[in-house]
Amino acid sequence: MAEKCVLAYSGGLDTSVAVKWLMDNYGVEVVTLTVDVGGEIDLQAVKERALATGAVDARILEVKDQFVRYFVFPALQAGAVYEGKYPLATALARPLMAYHLVEVAREVGAGSVAHGCTGKGNDQVRFDVGVRTLEPGLRIIAPAREWGMDRDQEIEYARKHNIPVPLTKASPYSIDENLWGRSIETGVLEDPAKEPPEDAYQWTLSPEKAPDKPQYLNIDFEGGIPTALDHKEMDGVSLIQELNRVVGTHGVGRIDHVENRLVGIKSREVYEAPAAVVLLAAHRALEDMTLSKEQARFKDRVAQEYADLIYNGLWFTAHHQDLHSYVQSTQRHVTGTVRVKLYKGSCQVVGRDSPKSLYSLKEATYGKDDAFDQRAAPGFIDIFSKSARLQAEVQLLDQPEGPLGITGPSE
Ligand code: ARG
Repeated sequence: MAEKCVLAYSGGLDTSVAVKWLMDNYGVEVVTLTVDVGGEIDLQAVKERALATGAVDARILEVKDQFVRYFVFPALQAGAVYEGKYPLATALARPLMAYHLVEVAREVGAGSVAHGCTGKGNDQVRFDVGVRTLEPGLRIIAPAREWGMDRDQEIEYARKHNIPVPLTKASPYSIDENLWGRSIETGVLEDPAKEPPEDAYQWTLSPEKAPDKPQYLNIDFEGGIPTALDHKEMDGVSLIQELNRVVGTHGVGRIDHVENRLVGIKSREVYEAPAAVVLLAAHRALEDMTLSKEQARFKDRVAQEYADLIYNGLWFTAHHQDLHSYVQSTQRHVTGTVRVKLYKGSCQVVGRDSPKSLYSLKEATYGKDDAFDQRAAPGFIDIFSKSARLQAEVQLLDQPEGPLGITGPSE
């Protein structure tokens, strides 16, 4: 019996060609694994296509709940956004896929796993690092890194070998999608000077076409996790799906980013992430109310570290566990309700309320119940300014160019 190889299978052109290519070039029996993380795919059709292409077994795993619970919500709590723009949808799903590839490989006794990633992207790194950390003994095969075919040659290969390729009209883009967002690459998008054409977008209406009336949404959080939409309790998967639908109609969630890939190149990426954009903004607004200044500032630094770690595929590491523990600890009082306003491409937080709010009206008000003792301010400022005043006197005031370099002697 031939050795088995478990292939991460989306059912698209690349991975369909890969089934046959792996059989021919590595002499393996191919078991395909399609992991459902909430992309819009016809799972039954994908399964049939895999078997028709020659796979000995075609597995489908529905892991949306796992994806949300262990990947999406922790990243939301962390405020993880790569380079300030990308909510990391694709990057978050890869380690979960790697995990299940390894599980299935163990179950069927496979000697190798395979994926359809190219040799110049981040996804290959995430798959490979994930698999190599979880099961070092497994061989990893990435056909697209080896075969040197372009898209037309792949189509020709599929035709020659009677590989059924998806009949949907050939997309000019490379697309990856899951609950947390849709990533769109290649084609005309490779020119960063050009505005992405409308056909790149599928989840969001153009802001010009969005309704003329704003829509308000109330989002409840408990411990940093969204639990209800407009006061209706929902599980995480349904809440995200519902938000993607509603928010997308207002043209909110489009992201156009020239990002720094791990492999050293910049690439122009377009994303649609309606739910992510709104949830990240709402979550942040609630943290503004419930975290101290020091917690918020330090957590911002952790968020960056966390985002880089996810982007770079280092999910299964102790560093991740440590960051995760810190983030979880910060979330214990991030509970309350945030009100957002969606209108023609913009998402604004317009209200927030929390039982653990650190906002104190009697301290903040300029009205009659002001509890802030303004007479204490001069003493505070006297001590606060002490070191600045001392330094100015000794080092700055007698500089020929003046304390700021702008009040010195005129020439
Ligand atoms: N640049 C993004 C990332 O590295 C998205 C990659 C999406 N892949 C795709 N085939 N469109 O996470």
